[in-house]
Amino acid sequence: MPSPLRLLITGNQGYIGPIATRLARMLGHSVVGLDVGYFQTDAIDNKGASSPDRQILRDIRDVQPGDLDGIDAIIHLAGLSNDPMGELNPQLTHDINLNSTVRLGTIAKECGISRFVFASSCSIYGAAGNTDALDESAPFNPVSAYAVSKVSSEEGLLALADQNFSPVFMRNATAFGVSPRMRFDLVLNNLMGWAFTTNVIKVMSDGTPWRPLVHIEDISRAAIAAATAPREAVHAQAFNIGRSDANYRVRDIAEAVGKQFPTAKVEITGETGGDSRSYRVNFDKATNNLPGFEARWTLEKGVEEIAQWLAAGRLKNSSFDSRLFIRLKQIKHLIDQGEINDQLRFV
Ligand SMILES: NC(=O)c1ccc[n+]([C@@H]2O[C@H](COP(=O)([O-])OP(=O)(O)OC[C@H]3O[C@@H](n4cnc5c(N)ncnc54)[C@H](O)[C@@H]3O)[C@@H](O)[C@H]2O)c1
Repeated sequence: MPSPLRLLITGNQGYIGPIATRLARMLGHSVVGLDVGYFQTDAIDNKGASSPDRQILRDIRDVQPGDLDGIDAIIHLAGLSNDPMGELNPQLTHDINLNSTVRLGTIAKECGISRFVFASSCSIYGAAGNTDALDESAPFNPVSAYAVSKVSSEEGLLALADQNFSPVFMRNATAFGVSPRMRFDLVLNNLMGWAFTTNVIKVMSDGTPWRPLVHIEDISRAAIAAATAPREAVHAQAFNIGRSDANYRVRDIAEAVGKQFPTAKVEITGETGGDSRSYRVNFDKATNNLPGFEARWTLEKGVEEIAQWLAAGRLKNSSFDSRLFIRLKQIKHLIDQGEINDQLRFV
């Protein structure tokens, strides 16, 4: 059992952050959260077990060494966190996702914090097509500003690695699951939202792209494992985070949703859209070599979990595709209301 750490979790007020915070605290670690608060206006607040011991409300672009006082390790989740958000303003994506990440790594290193766990993404494999499942040595093929920012962040952090500083790159699959900050802009959650609300499971593509899926609790478990593992197990290494038996075509995900909603009709729109991502990923390295990590959730368990959340009336009176649950809509709302400016800074 690793000794308790004082963790800084950035982006703790997002989708994954509250779950990572809750799990870390359950495991006996203490958590300082750092977040700018784009989603604080949500009706749903993260209280109780998923809130940190201490909250810093700060833009990641403005982090100061003093923010890292007393911290043993960092789990860095903050950023513009998916392809549509990344396209809002690619220069800002570069600034928030890449420059701020490397800057945070540099400050951490100067402060003597040796472990830096970075939330990267399988999106870096991009439009890989029908190849064998990709392991961590596969070439990058990013197809969005978001994915480019993840590749460059890994490279920038890797350049800082030395005997006193160990960045670890968590290449997470597409997330699903229930969070206090629920999202419906992710494939499984989205199809569940469609099915529950309209009895139509609407697949906005031809259904053939491959998407590996992973539950947010497994992402969190992996990040905490990387923060606490012996240095030699993780130093400057990348880990695909998911499970090798959870690579699905989108149409298979729709079918799994259909089992939960047997009267719902699957509608494949056939749109090509702007998203050319398709990749199958091999997750054996984390399963076999990341101490303390094991992916526990399956697609079927996730479908049940989300169905229960929906059946319990947790959408309240909002639509599943409202700004409460779609990140890009919330950011656009804050801009329209004049609460943040075009640099996404609070005014
Ligand atoms: N959800 C997924 O499927 C998935 C998959 C792979 C990787 N990831 C990565 O995991 C991380 C967390 O993802 P998530 O789904 O929780 O995202 P999210 O958008 O729900 O949460 C991100 C959090 O970061 C905060 N943030 C954004 N810009 C900030 C800034 N300038 N300063 C301080 N805080 C800022 C937001 O307020 C938000 O609370 C992201 O880095 C994302 O790229 C997510």
